[in-house]
Order: sequence, then C-alpha cells, then structure tokens
Amino acid sequence: MKPDLKPLSVILLLVGLSVPVDGCPPRCKCDWKTKHVSCTGVELVPLFHLSLQEVWLVRTKLAYIPQNAFASLPNISHIYISDDSALRSLERNSFYNLLRCLPLFIKTLSYIHPEAFKELPNLKYLGITNTGLTSFPVLQYVQSRQEDFILEIVENVFLRVIPANSFTGVSENALTVMLNGNGLTEIQDYAFNGSQLEEVYLHRNMDLEHIAEYAFYGVIHGPTHLDLSETKVHSLPSIGMSSIEILQVRKTWALKALPPFSAFLHLQSAYMTFASHCCGLKMLKRWRREEHFCNQTRAAVTQLQESFTVLGNNLPNHLKNNFQTPTYHRNNPGIWGLDKKAKDEGLFDVDLSSEALGEELDFALCDDLHQDTGPLCTPLPDALNPCEDVMSQGFLRVLVWVVSLLAISANLLVLFILLTSQQKLSVTRFLLGHLAFADGCMGMYLLLIATVDYYTHSNYYHYAISWQTGSGCQMAGILSLFASELSVYTLTAISFQRWHAIFNAMRPDRQMRLRHAAVLMLIGWLLCGTVAFLPVLGVNTYQRVSICLPMDSETVVAQFYIVSVLILNIMAFIVVSLCYLHIYCMVHNPQHDSSRCDTSMAKRMAVLIFTNFLCLAPICFYGLVAVFHQPLMTITDSKVCIFLWIVDPCLLALQYSWINLFAHFSLECDSKLFRKYLLIIFPQIISAIF
Ligand SMILES: *[C@@H]1O[C@H](CO)[C@@H](O)[C@H](O)[C@H]1NC(C)=O
Ligand SMILES: *[C@@H]1O[C@H](CO)[C@@H](O)[C@H](O)[C@H]1NC(C)=O
Ligand SMILES: *[C@@H]1O[C@H](CO)[C@@H](O)[C@H](O)[C@H]1NC(C)=O
Repeated sequence: MKPDLKPLSVILLLVGLSVPVDGCPPRCKCDWKTKHVSCTGVELVPLFHLSLQEVWLVRTKLAYIPQNAFASLPNISHIYISDDSALRSLERNSFYNLLRCLPLFIKTLSYIHPEAFKELPNLKYLGITNTGLTSFPVLQYVQSRQEDFILEIVENVFLRVIPANSFTGVSENALTVMLNGNGLTEIQDYAFNGSQLEEVYLHRNMDLEHIAEYAFYGVIHGPTHLDLSETKVHSLPSIGMSSIEILQVRKTWALKALPPFSAFLHLQSAYMTFASHCCGLKMLKRWRREEHFCNQTRAAVTQLQESFTVLGNNLPNHLKNNFQTPTYHRNNPGIWGLDKKAKDEGLFDVDLSSEALGEELDFALCDDLHQDTGPLCTPLPDALNPCEDVMSQGFLRVLVWVVSLLAISANLLVLFILLTSQQKLSVTRFLLGHLAFADGCMGMYLLLIATVDYYTHSNYYHYAISWQTGSGCQMAGILSLFASELSVYTLTAISFQRWHAIFNAMRPDRQMRLRHAAVLMLIGWLLCGTVAFLPVLGVNTYQRVSICLPMDSETVVAQFYIVSVLILNIMAFIVVSLCYLHIYCMVHNPQHDSSRCDTSMAKRMAVLIFTNFLCLAPICFYGLVAVFHQPLMTITDSKVCIFLWIVDPCLLALQYSWINLFAHFSLECDSKLFRKYLLIIFPQIISAIF
C-alpha cells in the first residue's frame, strides 16, 4: 500500500515549479482577508503562501500526502482534505503542529503512517471520515494540549477492531470520541486505557458484537456518556461503567442482559431497547442509598475504632461484625445500624457526638440521595411488559402448579386407560383420547410457565429478554395455542358426534364411524398446528409477553391473526350451542326416540352453554382490547383472564373425559351423567366469575 517515497528534493522541486511563490496557486482560490485557500483537483500539494491559515483540498488527485507537506505554513489552523479518487496514504509528519482542526474525507485512504499525526498540541478536532482504513490509526503522538478534544472517526466501513491503547496520548485532557457507523466488530481489552473520556459514541456499528470486559479498564476518567445504539453488542463490560451518566442502547436487540446494576453507580438517564431493563435500573435508587449508608456506617465504625484505640480497648467483635454486614435502618438512620445490644452496652457514651460525625456526614449528599428518583429510563414498562414476575398474583402461582400437575397426571391416566383398554375403540373413546392429549399438552405448557416463574421469581426483569426471545418461550407458545385450539376443536367434535348420534338414533347405518372421526381429527390437527405455527412464521409473535401467548397487535396482520383465532373459537362455541340446542329440542319432542331422557337435562344443558359462554368471554374481551389498543385491561388482569380461559376448557375437558370414561357412557342420555355434569359446571362458574 505504502508507495515508495520520492526523494524530498524532487517533490519540493515539482511543488516549487507548479506554483508561483507569490499569489494564489493554480486551481486554487485564495481569500487573503480570511487567509483561506481552497483548491480543487490538484495533483500535487501546492506551495501555499506562508500566511495562510485555512487550507481546503477538494477532490484532489494526490496519491499521498508527502512528508512535511504543510510544514512551511506556520500559522495554519485548519486543513480540510476530501478526495474520492486517488489518495492512499498519509506520510510521516504530514501535518504541521499549529494545526487546530483536521477533517479528512478520503474514501480511498488505506494507510496512515504511525507518525502522520505527530505533535499537534493545538489540535482540537481530528476527523477521519469515510476512508478505506483497515486498521485503527495510530494517534498516540498527537499529544494535544487543548481542552475538549473531539476525535471523530466515522463511516470507515473497513475499520474492524479497536486495539488496546488506541486513545493513549491523543490529548492530555478530556476527549470526546465519535466512532459511529464504522465496520467495527470488536473492541479489545484496554482499548481506552490511559485516556480521559467524556463522551463515547459507537452507534450504528452494525457488526459490533463484542466489547471486551476490560475495554474501559485503565481509563483515567469517564466515560460519562456511552452510546451503543444500533449495534449487535450482546453484553456490556461491568468494569468502567460506574462513571456513566447517560447510557444509550436503543435498537440493540442482542443486548439481552445488563451487568449487575450496581455497575452503574452514577447513571442518570438510560435509553434502552427493552422495557424490562428499566425494571432492573429502578432498583438502582435503593441500592445507591444503601451503599451510601454503608459508607457512612464504615466511617462511623472507623471513628469508633479510633476512639476505642484511644481508650486502650478493641472494638467488641459483635459490633465489628455488625458493621461488616451493614444494615440500613430506613426509619432510624441516625443510629447507623447499631443494634440494640450495642446500645445496651452503653457504646453511645463513647464520644460519638454529632459534631464529630458532622464532618464525616455529607448532609447535602443525604438530601441528594433523598431526591434521587433513580435513573430516567425509556422505554417505560407498559401494560404488556410490566415490572412483574411471570405469575404476579400469589393465587395464580399456586394455581398454575396445581392445575399443571393435575392436568398432566390425570390426562396421562386417561390416555393410559384408553390405550390399555380391552374394549374395542369406539368413536367416543377415540375423541376422548385426543382431548386428553390436548389437555396434557396444556398441562405441559403450564408446567413450563410455572418452572420459569419459579426460577425467575422476584427478578424476572433480569431474565425477561432471554426467556421471551428464546426458543423455550416459542415452544411454550406453540404448545399452549396448539393445545387450547385442539381442546376446543375436540370439544366441538364431541358435541357434534353426540348430536349426530342422537339425531340418527333410529338409523344405525348413519352412525359416525371411526374413520370419519379420524378424518375429522386429522383436519383438527392440521388446523390447530397451522394456527399455532403462524406466529413463529412472523404473523404474530410469542415474544411480547412473559406467558408466551401471541399478543402482538402492532401490525394489521397480527391483529387479523388475533381476530381470526377469536372467530374460530366463537364459531366452535356456536356449533356446540347449536348442537346442544337441537339435542334439547329433540329430547323434548315426544315423537323423538330419545325423549325417554330425563327432561330436566334440558335445563342443565342451558347451564352448560351459559358457562361455556362465560369461559369464552374473557378471551373475546381481551382480543377486542388488544386489537383496538384500548388499555382497558393491563397484562396483569389479562393474565388472570387468559389463564381462566385456558384453565376452563382444560378443567371442563378433563372432567368430561373422566366422567365419560367411568360412567359407562352410552349414546342415550343418562340422568346420572348429567347430575355429574352439574358437578363440573359448578367449579366452572366459580372460576368464570373470578
Ligand atoms: C502568523 O501570525 C502572526 C500573528 O497573527 C503574524 O504576526 C505573523 O506574521 C504570521 N506569519 C506569517 C508567516 O504570516
Ligand atoms: C495502560 O496504559 C498505561 C499508561 O497509560 C501503560 O503503562 C500500561 O502498560 C497500559 N496497559 C496495557 C495493558 O496496555
Ligand atoms: C463508598 O466508598 C467507596 C470507597 O470508600 C467509594 O468508592 C464509593 O464511591 C462510595 N459510595 C458512595 C455511594 O458514596
């Protein structure tokens, strides 16, 4: 890359030839008042007049900037170089030490001599924009003495790595580093070692995945502002974050977990990607306070220790230990966590007067801490992602374990009985098997949710993103939707089959055969499978909420999906209702053969349909709320509702199959059966009323 250096004399000769010593060089425009020259399309660095202060080289055809090219300009303060054809390298000492401002826009630049930027004590701004650099330029000889140096290295798409000590020696004072839009993939350990950082911008480094744990190690001070938006960073270092006041990680989708929030001691504003991160940062306020009082107790104990040493005593051990695990007494911070025992021993007779402590205690700081409302954080947790556990209510937490274990064991038993039964497989038994399978799946979903809840209890926000965006949640979502839809479908199929049986009671040739039922269930499986897999294919998403249900209603497609599922369920409900209504009419008809059924069954049927409707109501309600973006119901409420919606058919189906299995189910109605049915309906009504 590096071209052979022509002998200096030749260059000077060429330069000298091309330019008159007085006046403006060719292809340049000079403004003698402002001492400004701007040249377009030059092939060699012209020889400029000594008094010039500002040089603009636009669309040059230079192949490189030779050594000491600007050394003859004692008063130069700005050099602006933009090039889009030829310039490939900057040689040693390219720039003169009085320079204040140096923006470079050189697409083809691929080599910068390590000493190109050397001893530039007045430099306040160095910009290297849109170049073809492949390695980070050596900046350690810049040695600026200016305040607030700005280093802007942006849009260099081939710049991959920031190695150790990249910013050492750039400036004696604080430094603002803008590294936006480069092709960075990695920031290595000690990258910022030995520098004083003010603001560090790294946004739009789309390939930046890794920031080494020690990247900010050895920083003298700062950074106070860190911007990692629109990168692929998956973790932040926990070292060196304590001075950050503003943290920006918007659209940083890979950053699922933050370092322990105690790393962000001075954080004031945070712009996050995920709302759940703000839940964790909320705790920062309390932690800061506690930390402060710990420090105060430590200070107090040091004093006590001194007093004791003066008295020729050692501090009683229990007191020491008490301070080593400091406790902050919110209501009575005045006693610095001394326990009662210490007070009883009269330790307060030791001179621990307010005067002596007064210096130790920064009361202003106390006030500050009192006003500290925790960092400002966006996005704020919303109705879909509140700062709460998976199962926020205590009774849900218990219920989910009970129901899941019950559903799994009971349905396994049903399946076991059906499969090992000596009797010939009837249509009813076949359908019941499917129902048991669907409910077993639902039980597994609930068990999964219960387990996640157990492991993330009381700090779900920490795991929220990795759970919700992971494959576990996706699996749970598929399982839940498939199981609940299959359950609804099978219930419908059973209702239909019973209606069909009663309707054709006189015509044995028209009874449903096993192969019909098999086709019916095959359709059901395909339908429910499709419904459950659509969110994975992007129609909706299981990632929005902690219980992994498709609750996205942002796009029209997602809304359409929710509405479709709702309509499917309502249709199933209507079919079930019509079936039972017709059965009711038939059994009331004295001409019909089935009329020997208990007439009171009809009333019970009405109750059944009514409770079915109640079960469906919450999901309809939720669906409408979600589709029309009306925050009538928070996720906390809807969790309960949805839960009941899931649990209801689950319980219903469970009891249905149990009773059917053991009541020697016959196609004719049976008053005993319906009396038992009432037993099912009762808990249902209770849960629906919740
Ligand atoms: C540089 O600037 C100083 C002060 O502004 C001036 O006295 C001096 O003549 C300038 N040098 C040249 C070579 O123009
Ligand atoms: C960090 O910088 C200091 C001087 O600023 C230097 O002595 C030390 O070797 C550097 N550490 C690493 C690991 O490069
Ligand atoms: C507590 O003290 C340690 C060292 O003594 C210090 O680094 C830390 O910043 C202090 N924390 C607070 C909240 O004052």
